[in-house]
Amino acid sequence: MAWIVQWEEETGSTNADLLAAARLGAAPGTVLVADHQTAGRGRLGRRWEAPPGSSLLASLLFHSASSEGLHRHTQAVALAAAEACRNVARVDAVLKWPNDLLVGSRKVAGVLAETAPLPSGALAVVVGIGLNVSWPAPLPPDLAPTMTALNIEAGRDVDRAEVLRAMLDALDSLDWAQLHSRYRAELDTLGRTVRVERVGEVLEGAAVDVKVDGTLVVRTRSGDREVTTGDVVHLR
Ligand code: BTN
Repeated sequence: MAWIVQWEEETGSTNADLLAAARLGAAPGTVLVADHQTAGRGRLGRRWEAPPGSSLLASLLFHSASSEGLHRHTQAVALAAAEACRNVARVDAVLKWPNDLLVGSRKVAGVLAETAPLPSGALAVVVGIGLNVSWPAPLPPDLAPTMTALNIEAGRDVDRAEVLRAMLDALDSLDWAQLHSRYRAELDTLGRTVRVERVGEVLEGAAVDVKVDGTLVVRTRSGDREVTTGDVVHLR
């Protein structure tokens, strides 16, 4: 892919900006990066906050013929980000459903995909990632139990531009035909006992499968449940 990287000092949300640019005809392969976001968006309507310069805050634009592309591109970015963590920082990050990156049990990155219909009939898929690369240490006590950053895990400074380059390189060398099997293999959630927190209900059971469209299959006492959104906690 011919990546077109635009790096800004500050914006509201790189996802929001890139969706707007996509509607105005931005080319697939456009990557918007910011040192700081004032209205960063997280999954499930949450905010995504990070001190200026601490994180790789990047959104990548893809075009897709169908909504299947949404899941494929999101999974591809998560896998590429995990590869970049290994290659640049020698940090082993695993995937938690749907697309969080964890080091041990602590979150190092989150991914949020958003779409917009294009006049051509195709779908603009914007995949945004917030990857904690270079946080001031020590982490605030309220965050330290649940989050981490590459510099903290590696015990040295890690450069955000280098991580971005490695992530784009990983996407360029991705074997798309093997995407689902690779996602299944790297999804640490599979085989674990999980709690799934959803609006109005909590499920517990074994995460037994993930489908091509990203649906998680959880074996509960009352049968298999297919989960498309929600927060997963790895229990065992
Ligand atoms: C999550 O909740 O885990 C997903 C967080 C995604 C945050 C990234 S930061 C870059 C991009 N722009 C946004 O507004 N959000 C995503």
